[in-house]
Amino acid sequence: MFEPLQSKAQKILRTEYGVKNVTVEWERPAQADFGDLATPVAMQLAKELKKNPKVIAETLAEKLAKDSSVEKAEVAGPGYVNVWLKPQALIDELKKTREACTARVTRKEEAPVIVEYSSPNIAKPLGIHHILTTVIGQVIANLYIHQGYNVKTVNHIGDWGTQFGKLYVAWKHWGKGDLGTKTVDELLALYVKFHDEEENPVLEAEARNAFRSLEEGDADIRSFWKTVVNISMNEIYVLYERLHVHLAYEHGESMYENKMQPIVEEGKKKKVFTPGKDGALIADLENENLPPAIVIKGDGGTIYLTRDLATVRYRIDEWHPQASLYVVGQEQQLHFQQLFAIVKRLGWQLPHLEHVLFGRMRFADGNMSTRKGKILKLEHVLDEAVERARAVVKGHGEKIQTDDVETLAEMMGIGAVVYGILSQNRKMDILFDWDKALSFEGNSAPYLQYTHARAKSVLRKAEVKGDSFLPNNISSLSDVERSLIGGLLQFPEVVSEARESHMPHVLATYLYQLCQLFNSFYNNEPIIQAEESQKTLRLALTALTATVLKCGAELLTLRVPDRM
Ligand code: ARG
Repeated sequence: MFEPLQSKAQKILRTEYGVKNVTVEWERPAQADFGDLATPVAMQLAKELKKNPKVIAETLAEKLAKDSSVEKAEVAGPGYVNVWLKPQALIDELKKTREACTARVTRKEEAPVIVEYSSPNIAKPLGIHHILTTVIGQVIANLYIHQGYNVKTVNHIGDWGTQFGKLYVAWKHWGKGDLGTKTVDELLALYVKFHDEEENPVLEAEARNAFRSLEEGDADIRSFWKTVVNISMNEIYVLYERLHVHLAYEHGESMYENKMQPIVEEGKKKKVFTPGKDGALIADLENENLPPAIVIKGDGGTIYLTRDLATVRYRIDEWHPQASLYVVGQEQQLHFQQLFAIVKRLGWQLPHLEHVLFGRMRFADGNMSTRKGKILKLEHVLDEAVERARAVVKGHGEKIQTDDVETLAEMMGIGAVVYGILSQNRKMDILFDWDKALSFEGNSAPYLQYTHARAKSVLRKAEVKGDSFLPNNISSLSDVERSLIGGLLQFPEVVSEARESHMPHVLATYLYQLCQLFNSFYNNEPIIQAEESQKTLRLALTALTATVLKCGAELLTLRVPDRM
């Protein structure tokens, strides 16, 4: 933050103490009483310079205080240097915040970053739990894209496996009419019927044969499979659309069918794969402290892991990525540990591989499945959210202004669910609470949406069009103005931090705090009624807040209304 001061501090340390290689990190103090910026650099250098950190800090503060952008500099605690910037210096710095909303550095010449997410097993409806990988993954992709990376978003759909043999047999026995017109629910019903009759060994054998025929490329079953994939994906896209989720590549597991054999051979040759029990082929991972992994089953069949090995290879060959991220639940932690251990053993030139895991989702009222213990469908939860949002909007009567209740309800309902998830640390279990998610006061989508609309309404009343310009003659700031500016200044770093750590909640928490800062500014200072020079500044801060909230919300896949 605040690069000019970084180089100035470094220069002082060089002239005063001959320190050459130091990066002075300026942070934003948690409390406003500690100024706009603080650095612990004096304490970091104390040992090397054999000096009391306070002495170093004092020298630094004294010299920095002379800088034209600095109002005052003080030493605090065991050797922190706290700096208060001149109002105009703070305002000038806001340009970076505005740039962080629009212009991006482009890193297109760099190797791509692969973000794999959503990846549902198809031929059954998406359950509520699918929303986690889907939205967390999309946000991580959005953050990389926003920062100019070349991003490959991949849907590794589960479109292969014995379940397709079962479905085919069920269809042949009990299916009626034109397959192409069926819904996923109807397909699921057939699948369930098959399982109800599972005791029947004849059906089991038929299903195994059917899957084998599919693997061998039998035209009839292949076209059946293709139709089922299309039916599923069409339904899934409707949900993606509502969630503002877009994946560029749909590389299902089926795509790797003919890409596994060479890897199996390579593994055998390199003695990474060795014979296990009953004719299986395994990777012994004792040195990695992991249980052995089956690569080929006793019957010669490949499995999920085998396809993932081929996937790693394919992506390296095709894209030469710098990183490959797998946004998948923590239940699959062992799978990815084994996968990464095996590819390392194979000696491949690997990009950064990371399992971006997340916890389980629970509802505060305990309802995660429907009455019959069946999976709760994502579609139903989204519909319920919109319905609840509609009731909230209507319940507020005149207080909510909108000329389009339906659009607002969709935006608010979906936003509430998505934000309710993204505002929590993904590494923990995610507790979803309807009341909290739909509340207007608190860390929620409606609060964020409402604050944006409030800022927009001020701008409308003042007839400000577009981004209002930042004034260049400000010599004093009130406390709430200063705090709001402080909050706005953090945006670029927060986006970077959320991206680097793959933690969407870092951005969500920030947006919540920015809303609080804006609302206290709004409640404490006249904006439109202020005298001219203050009005210019306050409108500029209002406009920038609206821009940041919108940009941040969209990174989180949310939409914000101009009016509400
Ligand atoms: N289809 C899998 C499931 O639903 C998730 C796939 C995760 N990605 C991967 N490359 N294994 O459990």
